[in-house]
Amino acid sequence: MREASTAVVQREDYSAPAFFIRQVDLTFDLDPAKTIVASRLAIERNPAQPAGPLRLHGEGLNLLRVQADGQSVSFRHEAGELVIDNPPAAAAFTLEIRNTCCPEKNTELSGLYTSGGGFFTQCEAEGFRRITFFLDRPDVMAVYTVTLRGDKARFPVLLSNGNLVEQGDLDHGRHYAKWHDPFPKPSYLFALVAARLVCREQRIRSRGGRDHLLQIHVRPGDLQKTEHAMNSLVAAVAWDEARFGLALDLDRFMVVAVEDYNGGAMENKGLNLFNTKLLLASPASATDDDFAAIESVVGHEYFHNWTGNRITCRDWFQLSLKEGLTVFRDQEFSMDMAGDFSARGVKRIADVQRLRSLQFPEDAGPMAHPVRPDRYLEINNFYTTTVYEKGAEVVRMMHTLVGRDGFRAGMDLYFARHDGQAVTCDDFAQAIADANPGSVLARQLEAFKRWYGQAGTPRVTASGTFDAEARRYTLTLAQSCPPSPAQPEKLPFVIPVDLRLIAADGTKLTPLRTLVLDSAEQSWVFDDIAQAPVPSLLRGFSAPVRLDDGLTSAQRLVLLAHDCDPFNRFEAGQRLVLDALLAALRDGGAPRLDEAVAAALRRTLRDPGLAPAFKKLVLLPPAEAYIAEQLTVVDPQRIHAVREHWRALLAASLHEDWLWAWEQHQVAEGYSPAPDQAGRRALAGLALDMLCLHAVRQGDATWPGRAYQRFKDAGNLTERMDAIGALVRAQSPLAEPALERLHALAQGDALMLDRWFALQASAPEPVAELHGEAPGRVFARAKALLKHPDFSLKNPNRTRSLLTSLCGGNPAAFHRADAAGYVLWAERLIELDAINAHVAGRFARVMDRWASLAEPYRHAAREAIARVAARTDLSNDVREVVTRALENA
Ligand code: TRP
Ligand code: ZN
Repeated sequence: MREASTAVVQREDYSAPAFFIRQVDLTFDLDPAKTIVASRLAIERNPAQPAGPLRLHGEGLNLLRVQADGQSVSFRHEAGELVIDNPPAAAAFTLEIRNTCCPEKNTELSGLYTSGGGFFTQCEAEGFRRITFFLDRPDVMAVYTVTLRGDKARFPVLLSNGNLVEQGDLDHGRHYAKWHDPFPKPSYLFALVAARLVCREQRIRSRGGRDHLLQIHVRPGDLQKTEHAMNSLVAAVAWDEARFGLALDLDRFMVVAVEDYNGGAMENKGLNLFNTKLLLASPASATDDDFAAIESVVGHEYFHNWTGNRITCRDWFQLSLKEGLTVFRDQEFSMDMAGDFSARGVKRIADVQRLRSLQFPEDAGPMAHPVRPDRYLEINNFYTTTVYEKGAEVVRMMHTLVGRDGFRAGMDLYFARHDGQAVTCDDFAQAIADANPGSVLARQLEAFKRWYGQAGTPRVTASGTFDAEARRYTLTLAQSCPPSPAQPEKLPFVIPVDLRLIAADGTKLTPLRTLVLDSAEQSWVFDDIAQAPVPSLLRGFSAPVRLDDGLTSAQRLVLLAHDCDPFNRFEAGQRLVLDALLAALRDGGAPRLDEAVAAALRRTLRDPGLAPAFKKLVLLPPAEAYIAEQLTVVDPQRIHAVREHWRALLAASLHEDWLWAWEQHQVAEGYSPAPDQAGRRALAGLALDMLCLHAVRQGDATWPGRAYQRFKDAGNLTERMDAIGALVRAQSPLAEPALERLHALAQGDALMLDRWFALQASAPEPVAELHGEAPGRVFARAKALLKHPDFSLKNPNRTRSLLTSLCGGNPAAFHRADAAGYVLWAERLIELDAINAHVAGRFARVMDRWASLAEPYRHAAREAIARVAARTDLSNDVREVVTRALENA
């Protein structure tokens, strides 16, 4: 039975805690079936609230004893809380609690649980209360001392936050370790690990001359997969010191990998925990994208040490205070690591693609919420792409408005004011503004902060007129924002629009400027413009908006050929392709690849001045989910058919060019995940994809044969996966033996098995007109895989690799006229919810955009959601998602 509270939490209801906990002394007797937790809390009454009971959170715990200042004290349980009506009257007292919990039965993977025979914790956001009774809220910060006791043979490594102060043997083959973390922290940053692990160590000296020990702890077989993570960590430590003056504040910094894990990674003070898939990498076991993701997430969690841990959130509505800022920092870190201008541009494009394909749909759907939400039923549901990625864009806009040095001054002021505190998004914005008096940000701060308070993606419409005689160009920008749940009307946003005017031959007509659109409509006049300009607007994607640039195809071709801003150059190409796809969807039939567009794409592909990674981004057609977001009524089958047609056209029209691209971008050197090599592999991978696609359509077995050979012989996983992916996407008969081989190769390797599931679940369905076979094969296969002995709903990675890949990542397989996809979704969701509510809440969201589906999908989708919503045994996580889906449609 679920016992958590079912009340909606409102941001406006915030009040300071009635008590503070200053010190925590925890002792764990670790036993998978029954762990005993002894907690000793130094409590102070908040002088501002002199009366009232002490209420402690607790969930799924078995309470053994409570004592206050050594005396027993009466208590009661009420709505998931332990209530002590008459705590000692003194300003300060000690509370001692003994309770037990059952880690091996904890399938929620929140609190203390077991994975692969070891103990691990996950406390953010509200998992600590599943370990012991506590004021489990981020504005209660305490100094922790933790003693772990357990069997030495089974749990040789005992870790917690901070410094190791004592360790030794106990009787009955047990041992202990005592840890002390000198920094006051909220309970969500607590962590412990007790397992059989080995570690890679590195000693580093900071710029300031302090010595530190870095450790990465993994299962014994995984040690040789930790080199990249360690390199990333060393680089992150150096970068934060160089770019923001933020040095590592601990003698020891530990990272641990765990296989059963709800999220990506967690920034527990001095003891970061990572999902294995975001930590372990070798050339044979991880792709270039995995290497890049590991660098960015290792950086992200490390950067939280200052933005999140030293300064934390006052309440969970402020989550973007740490997440938006830390994503901004990890994006900047990856860009700085990428090196040259072009590689930075590629990273920026990838970040924008992620925002537009995940956050824009969220912001247009039933779960839309502001970067700083106003209410939640379950806080786990608000670890969203809005809070993270849109939050990072909000920080990036501040950076744009005050400049790089101004932003650094703002960060310095933020730390000077708030180090050691639990604060709000307002405090952050205020610090950046106060450090930059006179800036647009300072002058417009209240209006700028609407980015925190108003949901929805603003739409910006641009129109320009050129007066040749007066040599004058006038640009008008207008903004609007559609209604969001509980927000029917919006006030204007403050939108920085980076702009440059260029001529048809690419000549720059103006310097770079940042226009600030802060009302419904504004015009700017540019004098002394010699010829009709092409406006390059929203350069670098300077604000998270949908832009109607009003450009003609001819103008887009100019930008694709000449724009020196990599993002806008990419965007011009994407829009040309998108226009062709949308025209086919509007008019029916197959898309047309215009000669001018084909020639421009060919020229881009062959341009010696452009990086291969950039070329791949331009040549790859927009994702089906992104195409869907451009439409008010979505037919997933049509979108899939049109996009597959486009791929076939591209493969045929640029055949010679793909041959050239494949030959020219082979990597002969030893493997490195660096952008230059990875970029060549990325373009060669796309070329192979196109060559296989074309060959299968021509009945020619040569290229599939080569791809199969490459799959077998590849010296790294990127090339191996690109090769098998090309066979799968081309519907080649050789895909089958390749998949069999991949499964054999994956024995005993959980992450490789995940790939095997994901590849099959995300394979494109056949398209009748192209393949002479109706769609349905991929769905049937994925459904059968649910019964495969290697499948399990207990491991979140495995669940995502099959279920989320199918229902969230493969629209044409999932959205079926017979509703079988929705039935599968509803059944698995209910099953999953009983195991792990957090993962279930995420999975539920694949139905977010049901209301814009065409019939018969829309009706059937609604019915499936309603069937789930009608149940009485749902977790808060799933209930919030499905009820909002029905209410806010
Ligand atoms: N704070 C983590 C981060 O973004 C994310 C996180 C929150 C998380 N809750 C989690 C990770 C639960 C794993 C499990 O860095
Ligand atoms: Zn984070």
